[in-house]
Amino acid sequence: MSDKHPGGARPAPDAQERVLGQLRSRPAGFCSGEEIAAALGISRTAVWKHINALKRAGCRIEAVPSRGYRLQEQPDLLSVAAITAGLGTTVIGRAIRLVAETVSTNTLAMTLAAEGAPEGTVVASEAQTGGRGRRGRSWISPRGNLYLSVVLRPPVPPHKAPLMTLMAAVAATGAIRGHLGLPAGIKWPNDILLDGRKAGGILTEMSAEADRVRHLVLGIGLDVNMDLALLPEEVRRIATTLALQAGRPIDRSALLRSLLTELDRWYGVFLRDPSLVIEQWDRWNVTLGRRVSVSGAGETLEGLARAVDPEGRLVLALDSGGSAVVAAGDVTILTDVP
Ligand code: BTN
Repeated sequence: MSDKHPGGARPAPDAQERVLGQLRSRPAGFCSGEEIAAALGISRTAVWKHINALKRAGCRIEAVPSRGYRLQEQPDLLSVAAITAGLGTTVIGRAIRLVAETVSTNTLAMTLAAEGAPEGTVVASEAQTGGRGRRGRSWISPRGNLYLSVVLRPPVPPHKAPLMTLMAAVAATGAIRGHLGLPAGIKWPNDILLDGRKAGGILTEMSAEADRVRHLVLGIGLDVNMDLALLPEEVRRIATTLALQAGRPIDRSALLRSLLTELDRWYGVFLRDPSLVIEQWDRWNVTLGRRVSVSGAGETLEGLARAVDPEGRLVLALDSGGSAVVAAGDVTILTDVP
């Protein structure tokens, strides 16, 4: 399920998807390894490897000696072909790497970025075995959701990187609102909320010199179709999924296409005028104007969330008097302002 596309060409379905296509074309019958190999111009060993990878991704495939393979059950899998059908982006999705499972798409994307992957490369995985959240937490990553990381090389100094996280939050919220019609909001800095519960988060990582970002990876996790019972009790209480909110299962490839489209659009806006990203973040945020507690760096601050500054930091009017500017932390919304 992987594909790389130098020179900005649109990704095409890769060999694994085409093997799946061959199996799908015989829903009732068997298809021999030889037939698949001949149809796709690959070796029988390659067919066998792709069949095994499809099984690992959750496809139930029966293999009978001298008859071949038969698709018994096919899970809802992401596909490059479905993601890129009608995708009109200029930067995001120039290369798409889709994997059945990885430790963390951010880790994979950081490696690819260090090896020179083009700006806009997207790494997506059906599941993660070591998904990472903000502040050293883990991100539980079973099948059924979206886990993706995008390689970017913005021409900005490192202290502007937090704005990229706000940009990603705006793009993800825009995709959920536009594609699914759900009233998603953003809790500072980048929690995607629906009905007061968390449906997604963003983890930005970068490699930088003192005055410039070498490369940056935006990691986005959206809880889409998973069964909430897979989450530990303390997380389940504050989490939701897009499917639960929409009242139906979600087509993840189509949602991912909308997300890439929004990222492409908002990255362009960011490069032209970052203040417009903050303006949009402001419209969708659920933090400003509320009493909050912000924990991080060993202390907890309480006060009124007044604004985000031009670098994406949260400005608080402290209950204890004075003000504070917070660059990173966990926000709990305490009450609405009377
Ligand atoms: C948060 O703590 O809210 C941020 C969660 C970010 C999770 C995403 S899933 C894709 C990417 N890969 C990771 O390991 N983390 C991010």
